[in-house]
Amino acid sequence: MVELTYYGHSAVKITSDKVALMIDPFLDGNPNRKCCSADVEADVICVTHGHGDHVGDTVEIATRNDALVIAPFELATYLDMKGCRVHPMHIGGARTFDWGRVKLTPALHGSGFIEESGKIVYTGNPCGFLITLEGKTIYHAGDTGLSAEMEVVGRMNAIDLALLPIGDNFTMGPDDAVEAVRMLKPKKVVPIHYNTWEVIAQNPEGFARKVAGLAPVEIVAPGGIIMVS
Ligand code: NI
Ligand code: MN
Repeated sequence: MVELTYYGHSAVKITSDKVALMIDPFLDGNPNRKCCSADVEADVICVTHGHGDHVGDTVEIATRNDALVIAPFELATYLDMKGCRVHPMHIGGARTFDWGRVKLTPALHGSGFIEESGKIVYTGNPCGFLITLEGKTIYHAGDTGLSAEMEVVGRMNAIDLALLPIGDNFTMGPDDAVEAVRMLKPKKVVPIHYNTWEVIAQNPEGFARKVAGLAPVEIVAPGGIIMVS
C-alpha cells in the first residue's frame, strides 16, 4: 500500500511498507503549514532544486532522521557540505534502491540556494522525480514550465499519480498544466505549488474542470492523505 501525504506547496511524503520518502520538505516556512519539521520522520528525502521553498527543512529533517538525501549532483554536494548523507544523481539517471526506484526527469527552471548572507550558491540543474514503489509510479514534476520532454516521460512510464505545479508565475499555470496532463497520461493528477502566496494564487477546481476527460484530479488540502492506487 502506497500512501501520499500532502504538506502544501510542493512538499509530499510517500509511504510504503519499506520507506517513508519526502520530496521538497518545505514545512516550517510555509504560511499554510499543518505540521512542523520537528514532527516528521523520513528515511529518504528527494530534493528537486536549490530554491528555499523546496530545500526547505531538508537539512534539519535529514540530520535528525539520518535520512538519505537524493538530489541532482551539485545540490547533493551542497547538502553534503551542510551535513546531510547524500546520494547524488542527475537528469536521465535512474537507480534501484532496496525500497524502490528513482529516476530524475528534466525541469525547465533555475536552481540556486540563497544563503543567509544573501550570497547565491548555484546548485546545477533542477529536476523532477519518477518514484516507483510497490509497482506504483509517482511523477513529481518539481518546479517547471511546460516542456515537450513530458511527452516522452508519459510514453515511457505508466504514471499512477502526477504531482504538477499549477501556480503560474514561477512554473506552469493551469492551462499549460492541462497540456502536461495530455502528454503525461497519468491515472490521476494532484495539483501542487499554488496558493502558498498571492503570486501563485490559483483556483484548483477550475484546473480540475479543464483536465476533465483527460484524467481525474484530486485536490488535496495541506495535511491531506491519499492512497496511490
Ligand atoms: Ni523554484
Ligand atoms: Mn518553487
